[in-house]
Amino acid sequence: MKKFVFPIPVVSLLLLLGSCSEPENIDSPSSPSTAPEPVDWSSVGQGEVYQKVCSTCHGPEGEGNPQIQSPAIGGLPAWYVKEQTGKFKSGLRGAHPEDTQGQLMRAIAIALTPQQLDEAAQHVGKLPERKTEQHGDKASVDRGRRIFANECMQCHRYNGRGEVVFHSAPLTTLDRDYLVRQLKKYRKGWRGNDKSDFYGHKMVEMAGTLTDESIEDVVNFIGSLAHGDDPRPAADF
Ligand code: HEC
Ligand code: HEC
Repeated sequence: MKKFVFPIPVVSLLLLLGSCSEPENIDSPSSPSTAPEPVDWSSVGQGEVYQKVCSTCHGPEGEGNPQIQSPAIGGLPAWYVKEQTGKFKSGLRGAHPEDTQGQLMRAIAIALTPQQLDEAAQHVGKLPERKTEQHGDKASVDRGRRIFANECMQCHRYNGRGEVVFHSAPLTTLDRDYLVRQLKKYRKGWRGNDKSDFYGHKMVEMAGTLTDESIEDVVNFIGSLAHGDDPRPAADF
C-alpha cells in the first residue's frame, strides 16, 4: 500500500502540535530557532478550503484515510460538521493529551477561521455519502439491534440518520472502526467530558453503559442499518 505522506503545511502543524504538548523543562530552554513557524492558511482563498486543507486527510471525496484514522465525512450534514469543527477549535473535542487523532484535527480547526470552517462544512455536506460496512455474525447484529432500539434510536432516530434538534450525529455513513473508537473515547471521557459540552456529555453517559462487546454489537448493527435493517420491532415497550 502507498505510504501516506502529509503535505508540507500539515507537517509543520504537526511539529507545532508536538512542541505544544511537550512537558516544559525549565533547565533547558528551547532554542527559538528550532521552533516551527505557525501555519498561516489565511491565504487559502474562498471556495478552496476543502480541497486545499481538508482533502489532505479526509480525501478529495470525503472518503477518509484509515492510515491516519481520519473518518469518512462525505455526506455529513453541514450543521453537524460546523458544530464539531467548532468543538475541536474551542477544545471541547480533541484536547485530551492521549487523543492523538483528535489533536490532529484540533490543530487544523485552530489554524482556520470560523468562516473558513463554515465554508468547508458546506462543502462536506455536498460530498457523496458512504454506508457503514456490514460486519459481524447474525447473533451479534441481533444483540446490536436490541441495544440500538432501546438505547440509541430515541436520539439518533430509527434510521440512524441523526436529528438536528437533538444535535445527534448521523451514524450510518461513518466507518465502523471510527464508530467503535468514538464510543470508547466517550466512555473514557476523552470526548464529551467537559460539563459545558451538554450534547457530548449525553454520549458520555450513554457510552458508560456499554461494554467492549456491546460496542461491537451495536456498531455491527449500525452497519446492518445502513443497508436497510429496521430496529423498531426490537424495541421493548
Ligand atoms: C491532518 C489531518 C486532518 C485534516 C487536514 C483535517 N482533518 Fe478532520 N479529522 C482528522 C482526524 C484524524 C479526525 C478524527 C478525530 C477523532 O478521532 O476524534 C477528524 C475528524 C473530523 C470530523 C469529525 C467527524 C464526526 O463524525 O464527528 C470532522 C467533521 C472533520 N474532521 C472535518 C474536517 C474539515 C471540515 C477539515 C478541513 C477544514 C478537516 N477535517 C481537516 C484529520 C484531519
Ligand atoms: C440522549 C440522546 C442520545 C442517545 C440516547 C444516544 N446518543 Fe449518540 N449522540 C448524541 C449526540 C447529541 C451526539 C453528538 C455529541 C457530540 O457533539 O459529541 C452523539 C454522538 C454519537 C456518536 C459520535 C458520532 C460521530 O460522528 O463522531 C456515536 C458513535 C454515537 N452517538 C452512538 C450512539 C449509540 C451507539 C447510542 C446507543 C447506545 C447512542 N449514541 C445514544 C445523542 C445521543
